[in-house]
Amino acid sequence: MQVRPLDPTDAGAYQELRLLALQESPTAFSASHADEAGRSMGEVASRMAPAADGSIRMLGIFERGELAGFVAVIHPQREKLRHAVELAGLYVAPAFRRRGFGRALLAAAVALARSIAGVRQIRLGVNVANTGARALYRSVGFASCGVEPGALQVDGVFYGEERYVLRLESAG
Ligand SMILES: CC(C)(COP(=O)(O)OP(=O)(O)OC[C@H]1O[C@@H](n2cnc3c(N)ncnc32)[C@H](O)[C@@H]1OP(=O)(O)O)[C@@H](O)C(=O)NCCC(=O)NCCS
Repeated sequence: MQVRPLDPTDAGAYQELRLLALQESPTAFSASHADEAGRSMGEVASRMAPAADGSIRMLGIFERGELAGFVAVIHPQREKLRHAVELAGLYVAPAFRRRGFGRALLAAAVALARSIAGVRQIRLGVNVANTGARALYRSVGFASCGVEPGALQVDGVFYGEERYVLRLESAG
C-alpha cells in the first residue's frame, strides 16, 4: 500500500470511490450521494488540487495503483482556529477493509497535521453508531469530548456525532 496526496489526475478514481462511499456507508458522512453525484469532473478535479493556502489536502491510499481509500486534512486559516486540524471523510473501500489501510491513512493524516507549524491538536467527528471507526480513532490516541445528539439525519433516522480530539505532544 502507498499513501500520497491526491491531485487532479486522480479525479475520476476519487469520484467513483466517493460515490460508492456515499452509497454504501451513508451514515458515515455528512454529504449525501445526491449532493455529490451531479458534480462535473472539472469540479471534482479542482477539489483534488491542493489549496494554495494549504487549507485542504486530500490523501489517498493505493494498492497496486488502485485507489483504495482517502481522507481530507483540513487546516483552517483563521488566526483563532489554525492551531487545530480537522480530519474528514475517512474511507476505505469494502474490498480493502481490515487490512490496515484505514490505520495507515489515519497515521499519514496525523503525520501531515503534525508537520504543520503551530498545529497543537487534531479533531474529527464520528457517528456514534460507527463502532469500527470509533475503535480505530481511540486506538491511535484520540479522546472523546462528547456527543452531539441527533447531529446527522439519514433517511429519517437521527444519529449522534461523537467529537474526538488528539492533543499533540507539544500541546499544553
Ligand atoms: C472505518 C474504516 C475507515 C476502517 O478502515 P480499515 O482499513 O478497515 O481499518 P483497519 O484495517 O486499518 O483497522 C484499524 C482498526 O480499526 C478498528 N476497526 C476497523 N473496522 C472495524 C470494525 N468493522 N469493527 C471493529 N473495529 C474495527 C479496529 O480496531 C482495527 O484494528 P484491528 O484490525 O487491529 O482490530 C472503514 O471501515 C470504512 O471506510 N468504513 C466506512 C466509512 C467510515 O465509517 N468512515 C469513517 C468516518 S468517521
